[in-house]
This record gives sequence, structure tokens and C-alpha cells, in this order.
Amino acid sequence: MRFAVQPRRQRAAMLLIVVTAVLLQALTAAAWLWQRRQRQIAEARITQQRAELARMGRFALAGELSASIAHEVAQPLGAILSNADAAGMLLADRPRTSELDSILTDIRRDALRANQVVQRLRALLQKHTPTRGPLDLKAIFDETLELLRPEARRRQITLESRLAATHALIMGDHVQMQQVLLNLAINAMDAMEHTPPARRTLFLRLALATKLTGEGCELTVADRGHGIPDEASERLFDPLYTTKPHGMGLGLAIVRNIVLAHGGFVSAANREGGGSVFTVWLPALPGQSTARALRELENAEEKTTFKARPATQGGHP
Ligand SMILES: Nc1ncnc2c1ncn2[C@@H]1O[C@H](COP(=O)(O)OP(=O)(O)OP(=O)(O)O)[C@@H](O)[C@H]1O
Ligand SMILES: [Mg+2]
Repeated sequence: MRFAVQPRRQRAAMLLIVVTAVLLQALTAAAWLWQRRQRQIAEARITQQRAELARMGRFALAGELSASIAHEVAQPLGAILSNADAAGMLLADRPRTSELDSILTDIRRDALRANQVVQRLRALLQKHTPTRGPLDLKAIFDETLELLRPEARRRQITLESRLAATHALIMGDHVQMQQVLLNLAINAMDAMEHTPPARRTLFLRLALATKLTGEGCELTVADRGHGIPDEASERLFDPLYTTKPHGMGLGLAIVRNIVLAHGGFVSAANREGGGSVFTVWLPALPGQSTARALRELENAEEKTTFKARPATQGGHP
């Protein structure tokens, strides 16, 4: 009896050892593969960060060089323009062909366009020294709406606005605040490129809003565009993050920096029914008559409400 049991036990023990060995080997191989994958992911991340740093470095350099580049390029462009003018005058009393006329017109038009591109880049890259002072966001809101109107018309977008306060005083920089609103509005317009024209509505609202952080003013920019995909929500406000073929990925990073520098915060969310909504909150100027302003807010027309998914934060005070 003993003799029969012994080999069976031995066989079972052997089997256990073999199975354990195979399992251990499989586990070791899996752990090695997992480690390798993690290493690859980490390496890819480092490479991407390096590339982004290099790009940022290039942007910073471009910013510093923008003034001299603009100067260097503006001179030959000016010369091209005056040569085109001179050629036009020289040919004035000679028999002219329509082709020659159109060539001269093309030269003028292209030189002017090149000049505009250089000037715009310079405006974008040059450093602006902010000047802080009491500022009525309502004035900026109205001004920005006027600036946006022609572009909205061109893109077949309906502009809707709600002013839920007659004044919204903050301590801030005029140019920077306009930059915030313009960046958000242009993004909203871009997002509606493939929205049917009947649904293309850009909504802007200015209201007073009291948060835990205190009394403040709230700017809302909402669209009916493609919305924010989940994978983008983390990176939305990162510098150089863009999904547009010709985008620089700077707009929202600039918005966040400006808002944070003003002691406020910005968030983004998807809207029920499609599209996204960006909300900027800024602390109100201490001592402004909030009681009166809030009374006005209660009386003000407040038709539109946003039902939104949890917001992507661009920064907290
Ligand atoms: N209203 C919006 N709806 C959906 N996605 C948006 C919206 N606004 C921004 N985004 C996404 O966030 C990205 C980053 O926006 P950001 O303004 O920083 O850069 P950009 O518009 O691509 O380029 P630019 O530097 O010219 O502003 C966009 O490329 C887009 O994918
Ligand atoms: Mg943008």
C-alpha cells in the first residue's frame, strides 16, 4: 500500500513544482513586459516633454527676436511697395497692358499682406506690460462684441449676449481682459466650423457671482460646437496643446495666465445638447456697490442657463 501511494505523491509534488515553475516564469515574463512597457511610456513622455520645451524655447526666442525681425522684414517690404508704385508711375504715360497692371496690383497686395502677417506675429509675441487699474468689464464686454460682429457674420454665426449687471468693476488690465474674451470667443467660433448654420450660436454673458472666494464677476462664453473630448480635457489649458492644423495652442494658456494673475479662475465644460462653455470668474473691485449691482442682477433678464458636465479647471486663485 505504502509503495503505491509514494510514487503518486511524488508525481503530484513534481507536478506542483513544474506548475509553480511555469507560473513563476510566466509571472516574471509578464512583469518584465510590463516594466518594459512602462519604460517605453516614460521614454515617450520625456521625448514629448523635450520636444515641447524645445518648441517653447523657440517661441520665447521668437518673442525676443520679433521686434528686430519685424524691422528687418518691414524694410525690404517697404522697398518692394515703393518700387511697385514707381513702376506704376513710369508706365503711366506709356501704352499699358492689363496683364502688367494686374502684376503690379498683385505685387502691392502680396507685400501688404506679408507686412500684416509680420505685424500680427509681432503683436502676439511681444511682451505687454500690464497696467492695473479699476476696470468696468461691461465696457470691455461691449467693445469685444463690436469687434466680433464682422467675424461672426462672415462665419454665419449668431451672436447672443446677456448683460446681467449694469457695471462689473474689477482691478485689471484692459488689453489683457479683451484678450481673454477674444481668445475664448474665437475658439468658440472655430469649434462651430462644422455645426449647421442654423445652430451656430455664440453666447456671451457677463454677470455678478459670489463664490466662496468672495464677490466677483463672471464671464461666460458658450458655443454649439464639437465640444471637448474627454482625452483633451486634461490638456486644454496647457501651452502648445492644439487640435487645429494651424493652431499654436497658446490661446487658452494665455487666458489661464491672465485670469490667474488677476486672482480669478477659469473652467471649461461640455454643454448639454452639444458644445462647450468656458467660465471666467474674477474678483470684484473691493468697495464697489455690490448691493446695488446684485439688485440689478435679480431684476436682469436671465433666460439662458447652462447644464454642464463637471468642469475642467484652468486654475484656482
Ligand atoms: N470652445 C471650444 N470647444 C471645443 N474645443 C475647444 C474650444 N476651445 C478650445 N478648444 C480646444 O483646445 C485647444 C487649445 O485651444 P487654444 O486656444 O489654446 O489653442 P488653439 O486655438 O488651437 O490655437 P491658438 O494659439 O491659435 O489659440 C484647441 O485646439 C481645441 O482643441
Ligand atoms: Mg485658440
